[in-house]
Amino acid sequence: MDIKNILSNLTVEEKISLLAGKTAWSLMDIERLNVPEIFVTDGPHGVRWSPGSNFSETKPATSLPIESAMASTFNTELIKEAGKLAAIECHHYDIGVLLGPGVNGKRSPLAGRNFEYYSEDPFLSGKMASAFINGVQGQGIGTCLKHFAVNDQETRRITINAEVDQRALHEIYLAPFKMAIKEANPWSIMSAYNKVNGEHACQSANLLIDILRDEYKYNGVVMSDWGGTIDKSLSHINGLDLEMPGPSGRNVELVNAYKNGKLSIETLDTRVTNVLNLIKKAEDNRRDVSVDWNQHHRIAQEVAAESMVLLKNEENILPFKKGDTLAVIGDFVKELRFQGGGSSKMNPMKLDEILDELSIFTETSYATGYTKGKTSNDLLEEAKNVAKGKDNVVIFIGTTEEIESEGYDRQDMKLPNAHIQLVNAIYEVNKNIVVVINSGSAVETRQIEKSTSAIIQAWLPGEGGGNAIARILFGDVNPSGKLSETFPICLENNPTYGFFPGFKDLTTYNESIFVGYRYYDTKKIKTQYAFGHGLSYTNFEYSNINFSSKEIDCNQKLVVSVDITNTGSVEGKEVVQLYVHDCESYLVRPYKELKSFSKVSLIAGETKTVVMELGKDAFEYFIPHLNRFSVESGDFKVLVGSSSEDIRVEEIIKVHSNDVVAIPMDENDTVLEWLREKETNKIIVKLLKIININEDHPLYAIVLGLPVKRVFAVMKMFGAPEAFINQLEMAVLGDRNSSLMILRKIEEAMIK
Ligand code: BGC
Repeated sequence: MDIKNILSNLTVEEKISLLAGKTAWSLMDIERLNVPEIFVTDGPHGVRWSPGSNFSETKPATSLPIESAMASTFNTELIKEAGKLAAIECHHYDIGVLLGPGVNGKRSPLAGRNFEYYSEDPFLSGKMASAFINGVQGQGIGTCLKHFAVNDQETRRITINAEVDQRALHEIYLAPFKMAIKEANPWSIMSAYNKVNGEHACQSANLLIDILRDEYKYNGVVMSDWGGTIDKSLSHINGLDLEMPGPSGRNVELVNAYKNGKLSIETLDTRVTNVLNLIKKAEDNRRDVSVDWNQHHRIAQEVAAESMVLLKNEENILPFKKGDTLAVIGDFVKELRFQGGGSSKMNPMKLDEILDELSIFTETSYATGYTKGKTSNDLLEEAKNVAKGKDNVVIFIGTTEEIESEGYDRQDMKLPNAHIQLVNAIYEVNKNIVVVINSGSAVETRQIEKSTSAIIQAWLPGEGGGNAIARILFGDVNPSGKLSETFPICLENNPTYGFFPGFKDLTTYNESIFVGYRYYDTKKIKTQYAFGHGLSYTNFEYSNINFSSKEIDCNQKLVVSVDITNTGSVEGKEVVQLYVHDCESYLVRPYKELKSFSKVSLIAGETKTVVMELGKDAFEYFIPHLNRFSVESGDFKVLVGSSSEDIRVEEIIKVHSNDVVAIPMDENDTVLEWLREKETNKIIVKLLKIININEDHPLYAIVLGLPVKRVFAVMKMFGAPEAFINQLEMAVLGDRNSSLMILRKIEEAMIK
């Protein structure tokens, strides 16, 4: 495809037609110019391809663990492999662009679509998205990073206005998009349904032009979410390239906007060029493949196995010994809870059955225990009978699809009552209980803590989940997943409690940058299971933290190395997490933030040195009054550990920066504030001397709290000559002079 040539031959109507889909899942073709039709499909957890009009009839494909699970692997190489397999399956079905991954924020565990997003931490989300995108696009299939931006709830998702301050917007919600654009350059980005600070995301020039194009230098296609275009011409004028799905009934609006001059030919050509570029990339990479479904299934099992998080393991009940008798309980064992609902719901190629997988290790007896969210005396009695006398019991519980899905938010964070009741009932007859939780996001576990010896957070683990869980339970796989989101003790402890999901069409991000562990950690609120937490069947020791230098300029890289030793008796993998704490900052910052991580595999007794590199972005934060990120000079603590609450080694680094972030002092700042600032201290000391006010003066405290502009009125009140005071006032507040000049002017006024 020669894009320049095509563009010069297209009529305006044809150009406009290219700015919308042809069908629900394809882009417009122009036959006479050999512009082909290319296909797109969901989504982040594998290929969900429904070529017909019935969207629930989907072609079989490998179902991967949900994004929360993928992030919990903390294994970027593995996630890249997952992306690669999804891309190969796209080729198989002639799909050009996979609609994923999603990198929206997880401010509340209640958000119905949390399972489709990686983490509460923007760094982890950005790294995982980059890995997945690189995996997919490395095979010549495009991705669509979604939903840009601040689409963090399902309630009223089409009309809700997310009111978010600039720091939270940039540091938390835009950060993963920014990172993925820099590290993986997705072929396309999907704009969000919602409004951000009053403007629909699909027609916000600030989001789509100022930030995405001008600041992030993004050069791919921006497409709308399905049915998310509000004002078609305004959207295209303000940065949207493609309205989806098609066909659009509104092309005439755009023709009119072109005719009346609102849509310039330059803008139209830019949008069309972006769309043609995407079509060309997909077309150039179109190829026949043969899919090794068994190998893909094994990768899905691998990702599932690395994603499961061993939350607790009292008296090392796990791993079970092969041959120990085992009761297996829960409807989820047969009605597998392996994927999320909505647009990422797939038709798995090959689904592992839990009981089959367990039978490789031991004989099992099964009871249902509940159906969906309900139980009965009969079901409980039957389950107790099965559990009685067995060496161990494993109970599968969690959120049902009725509880969490795309389209609606969860009502609370609790497990279904029936599931809690079941666990506690089994405890009456057998104390060796291991619970496996299937859920897309954090749940409260306090109601089952006393009755359980071990808990595994298994997420919604995709088609290989059954195999993964059996191997973990019997120690064939040593668990190495770490929580990609905090499990608070209860919903009330979450920073959005009381105002998520907002009222009517407004949701306010009152918690600002204090999302997830940034909140619990800074406010010292105890959690049930911390961000980054996850146990292993072995232990790891951290030692010898070393820096490439004790002081750096903020533009230099800092190389951090730490020795990790496997001190247990089995092979295992550890996720080494590096957090940065800013010792002193002009504006408030979270106590610490994840800035690097590395997953290392060690055989028993082995030590490896893990090396991590920190750049400027590890130290910077967003300064609203400068409207950009900045690094402040000073000390930073580098904290390395096994979870956000289990820091093992730390060291201070001095970072130098020339950036000045402080807002210059003005007349509304108080005497005390002028005293505290190095620049203005001398001026105010001099003024206080002139009016004879020192620490012993009865009005000292009052004067300290006055805005500086009021000091002069006070001086007059005390009878100082008016002309003299006016001159002082002019000297101090007149024009913005250096402190030295102001002092000189004060001297002059005094001499006169
Ligand atoms: C979802 C998108 C999805 C699209 C197409 C929308 O409802 O928000 O994530 O890609 O549907 O299925």
